[in-house]
Amino acid sequence: MALVTLKELLLRAEEEKIAVGAFSVGNMEMVMGAVRAAEETGQPIILQIAEKRLKNSPLPLMAPMMVSAAKNAEVDIAVHLDHGLTLGCIDEALAYGFTSVMLDASLLPFEENISMTQKVVEKARAFGASVEAELGVVGGNEGDTAEHKILCTDPTSAKIFTERTGVDALAVAIGNAHGNYPVLPELRFDILEQIDKTVATPLVLHGGTGITDEMFRRAVALGVRKINIATASFDHLAKYAKAYTDTVDTPDYFTLSAEMVRGVYDNVKRHINVFSML
Ligand code: 13P
Repeated sequence: MALVTLKELLLRAEEEKIAVGAFSVGNMEMVMGAVRAAEETGQPIILQIAEKRLKNSPLPLMAPMMVSAAKNAEVDIAVHLDHGLTLGCIDEALAYGFTSVMLDASLLPFEENISMTQKVVEKARAFGASVEAELGVVGGNEGDTAEHKILCTDPTSAKIFTERTGVDALAVAIGNAHGNYPVLPELRFDILEQIDKTVATPLVLHGGTGITDEMFRRAVALGVRKINIATASFDHLAKYAKAYTDTVDTPDYFTLSAEMVRGVYDNVKRHINVFSML
């Protein structure tokens, strides 16, 4: 098993009518927990990190670890830059051996989103890497406090966008948002169905934290092939760490580290099972 491209995993997911989990990581314990869950379930995963998270988890440290974890895993793993904001970061991730990159130009006007994405596709192709782009606006904001107002993806624009850019995956906005939802979201499955009918490219659902298992299964049945989970893993790590430190007077690092791994492992495994329609 090996480091593979996002495109390869999504093609397989399409054949099997399942989704591949894309799990955000910010340190070694998160990488270890996610890989352990993938190996135990025998399912491929995507390890990803967003550009805005690099303030906490620098790319020169994270990238070699993520790529090495993928190369040494017993399952296939793609390593992905989530929500790239600058072409410089895309270049860096590709040079480190990421097998997939996303440029999030979704807040730019349609034509500018297309031309920025075309540049990324050209860069990625030189490395044999895959590209994800976003059309429409997903709520919240990965790694920031500013909130973005949701703007659902228009199916006709999505068709034009994917044909003109040639991206390997398209993130859609159907009422989903990053972070913990204040109330259960009402996902627009009617729009997702139209996008799936109009667009040949595999679809991506961001903002997975807090979406119910039933909604995940419905999204997968309507063509979603990659589902992003970030907040739930960060929260699980923090919760398990706190549960441990609360129980002892003098916490030791090694038990704490193992609990962090276990927190992420439990969260990732649960989601892999749902996304694989097990
Ligand atoms: P959550 O933090 O809501 O799980 O969203 C993850 C995501 O979409 C990362 O791009």
